[in-house]
Order: sequence, then C-alpha cells, then structure tokens
Amino acid sequence: MTLEDLKTLIREVQDFPKEGINFKDITTAIKDPNAFQYIVDQLYLKYKDKGITKVAGIESRGFIVGAALAYKLGAGFVLIRKQGKLPAETIKKTYSLEYGEDIIEVHKDAFNENDVVLLHDDLLATGGTAKAAIDLVREFPVKDLLVNFIIELSFLKGKESIASEQNIDVDSLIVY
Ligand code: PRP
Ligand code: MG
Repeated sequence: MTLEDLKTLIREVQDFPKEGINFKDITTAIKDPNAFQYIVDQLYLKYKDKGITKVAGIESRGFIVGAALAYKLGAGFVLIRKQGKLPAETIKKTYSLEYGEDIIEVHKDAFNENDVVLLHDDLLATGGTAKAAIDLVREFPVKDLLVNFIIELSFLKGKESIASEQNIDVDSLIVY
C-alpha cells in the first residue's frame, strides 16, 4: 500500500450532501483491511515520538481512525461530540460548516495539565470544525496540542485559518 494506492480508494461523491460539494468518502478506504492498517500505521509513525497522552477524535468520522491510533500510541481517547450526546458537564463551541452550522462539546474533565493532545479528524475542509475543536482543547491547561487529518482540501484554506493565528503543528496524510 502506498499513498497513491490509498488515494484511489477514497471515493468521490458529487453533490453530497449539497449541490456543488464533491464529498471525499473514506468508507471505501477503511473497509479495505490493508488501507485501514496503512492509514493508522502512517499516522502512528508520524506521532509515536511526540509523547501523545490523548487522542481527541471529532464526531463522527474522527472516531474511527482516532481510536485505532490512540490504541496504537498507547494513549487515551477523548470524544469531541455534537451537542447533546455527552452525559456529564461539558464545554461547548459553535462553528460553521462547509454546509451549515453546528455545536460541538467535550467533557469538562477530558484533559489535564499533563496531557499532550493529538486532535484528529478525517477531513479538513473550511477548518470550521477543527477551529472549534482547537478552541475547546485550548480551554484546558494542556502541555501541547497537535492536529492531524487524513485528508486536507487545501483549496478551502482551512489550514491557514487554524494554523496561522495559533502556533499549532497541523498535518495531513493526503492533501488535495
Ligand atoms: C465533516 C468532516 C469534518 C468536517 C470538515 O464532518 O468529517 O469533521 O466536516 O469540515 P470543515 O473543515 O468545513 O469544518 P460532518 O460534520 O459532515 O460530520 P460527520 O463526521 O459526522 O460525518
Ligand atoms: Mg466530521
């Protein structure tokens, strides 16, 4: 498996969920055992020496590889969820999406001052979701925060909007 092989396994769905959006669908990659293993292994190699204590995955597609990666890194896993799903006390952030608006939240006791957090999501588009998640993690006194995506849509300039104003290590496996 190479990065080029992986790219061929990511399905593009035109006009989903709205007209004009070319949806990058990872389901066709992660159902392939070799591709799923390749994604997790590549991310593991990138982050294994960074002292990551917790991977924070963004609901819902950030949970899949995020949890597998946390297991492989020997880190804990934190759920950043859409509003109303977490049972205990939370901190919330509103954000605008490529197609709509939403609220994400995380439990108030999710992170502590000893944590080096790797925030993970499947895709960086406009950066709205990631920015809100970064703001959430930044409410905690964590040691460090790194950010990772499987796919970055660079033409939407999401990376600029999340990395420029804050000095954060942002990396993606595949950049379109
Ligand atoms: C998609 C994708 C990212 C986000 C990227 O999630 O999985 O989380 O949008 O867009 P942005 O950079 O413009 O904010 P979506 O909200 O569709 O939900 P899902 O992961 O539950 O499918
Ligand atoms: Mg998502």
